Amino acid sequence: GGADQKGPVFLKEPTNRIDFSNSTGAEIECKASGNPMPEIIWIRSDGTAVGDVPGLRQISSDGKLVFPPFRAEDYRQEVHAQVYACLARNQFGSIISRDVHVRAVVIQSYESEADNEYVIRGNSVVMKCEIPSYVADFVFVDLWLDSEGRNYYPNNAAETDGKYLVLPSGELHIREVGPEDGYKSYQCRTKHRLTGETRLSATKGRLVITEPVGSKAPTFATASKISSLLGSSSSDIVLLCQAQAFPVPYTRWYKFIEGTTRKQAVVLNDRVKQVSGTLIIKDAVVEDSGKYLCVVNNSVGGESVETVLTVTAPLSAKIDPPTQTVDFGRPAVFTCQYTGNPIKTVSWMKDGKAIGHSEPVLRIESVKKEDKGMYQCFVRNDQESAEASAELKLGG
Ligand SMILES: *[C@@H]1O[C@H](CO)[C@@H](O)[C@H](O)[C@H]1NC(C)=O
Ligand SMILES: *[C@@H]1O[C@H](CO)[C@@H](O)[C@H](O)[C@H]1NC(C)=O
Repeated sequence: GGADQKGPVFLKEPTNRIDFSNSTGAEIECKASGNPMPEIIWIRSDGTAVGDVPGLRQISSDGKLVFPPFRAEDYRQEVHAQVYACLARNQFGSIISRDVHVRAVVIQSYESEADNEYVIRGNSVVMKCEIPSYVADFVFVDLWLDSEGRNYYPNNAAETDGKYLVLPSGELHIREVGPEDGYKSYQCRTKHRLTGETRLSATKGRLVITEPVGSKAPTFATASKISSLLGSSSSDIVLLCQAQAFPVPYTRWYKFIEGTTRKQAVVLNDRVKQVSGTLIIKDAVVEDSGKYLCVVNNSVGGESVETVLTVTAPLSAKIDPPTQTVDFGRPAVFTCQYTGNPIKTVSWMKDGKAIGHSEPVLRIESVKKEDKGMYQCFVRNDQESAEASAELKLGG
């Protein structure tokens, strides 16, 4: 024995999501320290160990999980679309990494399209870039071009004075459409995240501008009165409220006070701006999360829609204290300190096994011999997970 002996601690933990193309393959690293040096084992989410699959998956001698490049016909769901984790263990205990969602993508050719949009003169409109669903997760809009040779780039939400805005979701937002806008056509350019390849949409979209005949109360393009939106903290978030009306409607934004049916007008400032009916939140923070209501009125009527916004922040966890030495029969307390949003579940493991505890504080009233080992808390939401570990040693 000796004070320098210790259970495993991760030095390099894989990320939550690893997407790769069949032509590149991927290597996933996992490293842990400890004394004695821990061994690394790769497991599935059910805890079973992962083995070699010739040509498709190997464990390298230094503990990496390796996916070599493969031909399209060799794709195997149970290998190439799987949740893995790495487990580090020595004689003092075991720890498990966060969930690692691995996804191999067989690169396929695709075409996107920009379609015509119908708009009443004076209203705002969004032009969509239609991307086939089988590539939608890997392809994003990196540019819009018009037939007069002008380019519109994303991430310009800060420059809200312009007539054009490429939304974070890839649509081109055009405000206060006038007759001259009907003479141009618009094309989107998409980029593949894994290959870096860009391509222009197969079709060009136009604005079909209708001249109002008489008044028209605001109506929304979609029937749904409530939608939800996920955005990440520090990014720019755009809340749409796309109603068509004549006379051109007036839009007001409200936010509900959490857990109530009372609402307050959204305060506009340098960070939170409204462009026509669209609400733009720059450098979003978790506190911007909540339920928003957009009310659109003109002289002949009104309509409203709700948007539930969740601003995500990366999950991380820490256990206090990271190690403790407790005498037989004495109490031990571990506290899981976590940050990030949203947090859906908290759970604890001991030496890689769930212990059925879901509170941030883990208390052992009277420490027994079998309580010694490695404790972990996990925090999770639908997108990601994070873990922290701590060691309980027995005293005299
Ligand atoms: C990956 O799949 C594509 C599409 O079938 C194919 O053209 C390419 O050769 C594959 N890569 C390898 C390394 O086999
Ligand atoms: C605006 O429209 C809403 C319907 O969604 C209505 O409840 C409200 O009274 C209208 N406000 C004005 C000022 O007309």
